[in-house]
Amino acid sequence: MIEPSKKVCLRTFGCQMNAYDSLRMAGMLADMGYAQVEEPDAADLIVLNTCSVRRLAEEKVYSYVGELKRLKREKPWLIIGVGGCVAQQEGDKLLRRLPHLDFVFGPDAVPSLPGLVGDALRGKRQAMTKLGPSAAPSQIIIPTAPGLRAMVTVMTGCDNFCSYCVVPYVRGRERSRPAGEVLQEVNALVEAGVREITLLGQNVNSYHDPDSGLDFAGLLARVNEVKDLWRIRFTTSHPKDLGQGLIEAMAGLDKVMEQMHLPAQSGSNRMLKAMNRGYTREKYLEQVRRLREKVPAVALGSDIIVGFPGESQEDFEQSLSLLREVRYDFLYSFKYSDRPFTRAGRLEDKLDEDTKGSRLVELQALQRVIGLQEHQAQVGRVEEVLVEGPAKHGQGLMSGRSRAGRVVNFPGPPELTGSLVMVRITQGRENSLAGELIPATGENTA
Ligand code: SAH
Ligand code: SF4
Ligand code: F3S
Repeated sequence: MIEPSKKVCLRTFGCQMNAYDSLRMAGMLADMGYAQVEEPDAADLIVLNTCSVRRLAEEKVYSYVGELKRLKREKPWLIIGVGGCVAQQEGDKLLRRLPHLDFVFGPDAVPSLPGLVGDALRGKRQAMTKLGPSAAPSQIIIPTAPGLRAMVTVMTGCDNFCSYCVVPYVRGRERSRPAGEVLQEVNALVEAGVREITLLGQNVNSYHDPDSGLDFAGLLARVNEVKDLWRIRFTTSHPKDLGQGLIEAMAGLDKVMEQMHLPAQSGSNRMLKAMNRGYTREKYLEQVRRLREKVPAVALGSDIIVGFPGESQEDFEQSLSLLREVRYDFLYSFKYSDRPFTRAGRLEDKLDEDTKGSRLVELQALQRVIGLQEHQAQVGRVEEVLVEGPAKHGQGLMSGRSRAGRVVNFPGPPELTGSLVMVRITQGRENSLAGELIPATGENTA
């Protein structure tokens, strides 16, 4: 076999949990001498970190892997591995279906990646998809140039079993990372220059330190004490578990930003029940009211599924009216699709694609109007912005995020990158705000 020249193409699909795992994979592969390349054509090793949350996400993986067959024919020494949630879901079925694959590994097998690559180089094909009872990430791997913002997983898995969702099956049971380990990782990232941390979990509100019993509000308080860390965000919060403790923590801790992703999934009580979400529309609205009472500037985000089995026009209209009532800042919306193992997959009364499609279009059109109005309502406010660098579009424009997580673009010099500045908002757009820099008074740290 030809000795590989050690280049890896690592492709990540899916949520931030996968993005986080991919960083750990990149770190381990770098230790093995693999340099990262963008294009699969240039690689000796291709690793896909996959998502299975909707049918389309899974199909994307199959078509991507299919295309790699040609490369493998041209370069027989090429090693191809599939990790993440599709890998967990399909296991060695993937190896049987796709003979050009070398190995398959689930999210809990990430630490075994170096071994899997080594075995593949020796010609061994295998699938490693055991979900461990205690496999919350335990290594601390810090990317070499992490930038200003970084993610830290605080818990993995999910115990909620929403009836449409594959995540509990592919990520396993909920497991929290000890707070000491979370803090160690946050500290190391801050030392490497990170100023904003996003704490990750499918349901961060049910965080429970296995060592001390600390809850998520307590964890936030500890992270808030980290010197030279400026900003803390977290995702995702489950509406049924949003306790007063977390609301108070958000209101009281200066580094915790005024932003919350609080997925509603539907505005109809009938659908919420069928989805096994554990709250009613009224309870959800009450949570929003309690949160806004303490954190008035909070920007709220949500996920909505349209076309869940049995969703009537009336149920759908309840979702539209929820959007009007809550007035989200940002929204991710999806057409329902059947997922393996799930209860909803076995329900009758599935909706046709056209109905789902037109409902999605209508929901998104409404959100565009609301989002724009919410952004326009920011005009005149002065916002603290963490400057990330030059804006993607527009000469001389810099770009960063407000405390509420909104993208803010403003004219300014590139030297502002990495600093906190104050910006007066002059215009609200659909997905961003425009503003002008307020000259520093000397208080803002660079
Ligand atoms: N833990 C997070 C969400 C993880 S999945 C939470 O509970 O909010 C991200 C989103 O994908 C979900 O919020 C849901 O809106 C969507 N989703 C999950 N399963 C789906 C399915 N079968 N069809 C369509 N959308 C789905
Ligand atoms: Fe899926 Fe529900 Fe868990 Fe979110 S809370 S990951 S939607 S089962
Ligand atoms: Fe997808 Fe797995 Fe995340 S299914 S959404 S990558 S937990």
